[in-house]
Amino acid sequence: MPLWDGRFQEGPDALVLRLSESISYDRRLYPFDIQGSMAHAKMLARQGIIPPEDGEKILQGLAQVREELDRGEFVFHTEMEDIHMNVESRLTQLIGAAGARLHTGRSRNDQIATDERLYLRHVDDQLQGEIRGFQKALHALALQNRDALMPGFTHLQHAQPILFAHHLLAYVEMLERDRERLADTRHRINRLPLGAGALAGSTLPLDREFVARELGFEAVLQNSMDAVADRDVSLEFLADLSILAMHLSRLAEDIILWFSQEFAFVEIGDAFTTGSSLMPQKKNPDMAELTRGKTGRVYGALMGLLTTMKGLPLTYNRDLQEDKEGLFDAVDTVSLVLRTLTAMMATVKLRRERMEQAASDPALMATDLAEALVRQGVPFREAHHQVGRFVASCQNRGITLAQADLALMRESIPTATEEFLSLFDPRHSTQARNLLGGTAPAQVEAQLQRWQQTLSQE
Ligand code: ARG
Repeated sequence: MPLWDGRFQEGPDALVLRLSESISYDRRLYPFDIQGSMAHAKMLARQGIIPPEDGEKILQGLAQVREELDRGEFVFHTEMEDIHMNVESRLTQLIGAAGARLHTGRSRNDQIATDERLYLRHVDDQLQGEIRGFQKALHALALQNRDALMPGFTHLQHAQPILFAHHLLAYVEMLERDRERLADTRHRINRLPLGAGALAGSTLPLDREFVARELGFEAVLQNSMDAVADRDVSLEFLADLSILAMHLSRLAEDIILWFSQEFAFVEIGDAFTTGSSLMPQKKNPDMAELTRGKTGRVYGALMGLLTTMKGLPLTYNRDLQEDKEGLFDAVDTVSLVLRTLTAMMATVKLRRERMEQAASDPALMATDLAEALVRQGVPFREAHHQVGRFVASCQNRGITLAQADLALMRESIPTATEEFLSLFDPRHSTQARNLLGGTAPAQVEAQLQRWQQTLSQE
């Protein structure tokens, strides 16, 4: 029988057990459930709410339950519904009457809210570390290829020459904001629900500040109803993961393009690519595709929980039990993707000659011509127009911009000088973008060094 059976004459129907159990997935919260129970028991004894010797027995019993769980010897019971009642009933089996005092002044409503915050804090730290690991892998690849050129794209059209390292560092920046978001969220996660009871607090002299200190929470939630009713920190965490997954998905898409025969900019190690069951020649970037694909389930977890929450009256409703599987899945998915991409990046090799060749199309330097005119004092709109005419006249003759001589160039750009003819070198073009945040090698070098510092601090 469940632990709440007092007022019932019959046990729950088998279907009821199947629909209501959460032990099949909330079992992973056990370290946090036990941690929370230990802090609660210490507080109860310290406040004289339970006898000190019972407090001791509870702590020892919980430590034993945790060992059984750690060793995989714990026997889970579906009729005990969830992790809270599974742990408590095993505790009472082990230590007898004292176990029946643990749930004093506590409800599963404030208990689950506490367990989830301890879990979120733990995976928040873990994911911040995994983001750092991935940033290091991107930084290392950028560093190894610090002088590799490639075309930069807008609208997936060749736009201007850039350094490959500049492209990778763009993702290092995005990932840094992802990490910052998790660090900010951690402060809001790190507040204590326990003491809220079912919804209205307790008639017993609980010391919530003590429990908060024991558990390393930064603060105590100030409204008992808020404490048991909301899941906004889980939503915020899922929003952080969704944005992170979106960034990873875009990088995956870049890699898929670079790995295609049409681009042929990069090689990926065999251990991180897959073959076709039919076409013997195939080598596919499936890890990047799965990174892109799995983004959907992360967004799905966010949308699912938002939808679960939207119509709930205060305070706790059993609907809230549905907050877990999507969250766990999103955390597991993003963590696995991050670790896989980190390892994959170490196997990426550049086909520099292909990349440099693609960056060398003189048309990519059209902006450089226009800016040379601006330096002569020509208004930019006029400069843009002149260079546009020059591009069209080359196209009509079937030649590249670099094949035109000065006379031809002057037909479109009357003030063109010899210097203009030397602007078609992609390396020169990157060097000329020498301002903060630009793709000039000197700027990229400075950024590589800044990241070296930041990434080696942890
Ligand atoms: N398994 C439940 C959940 O995850 C724990 C809280 C249950 N509380 C209750 N009053 N039925 O939400």
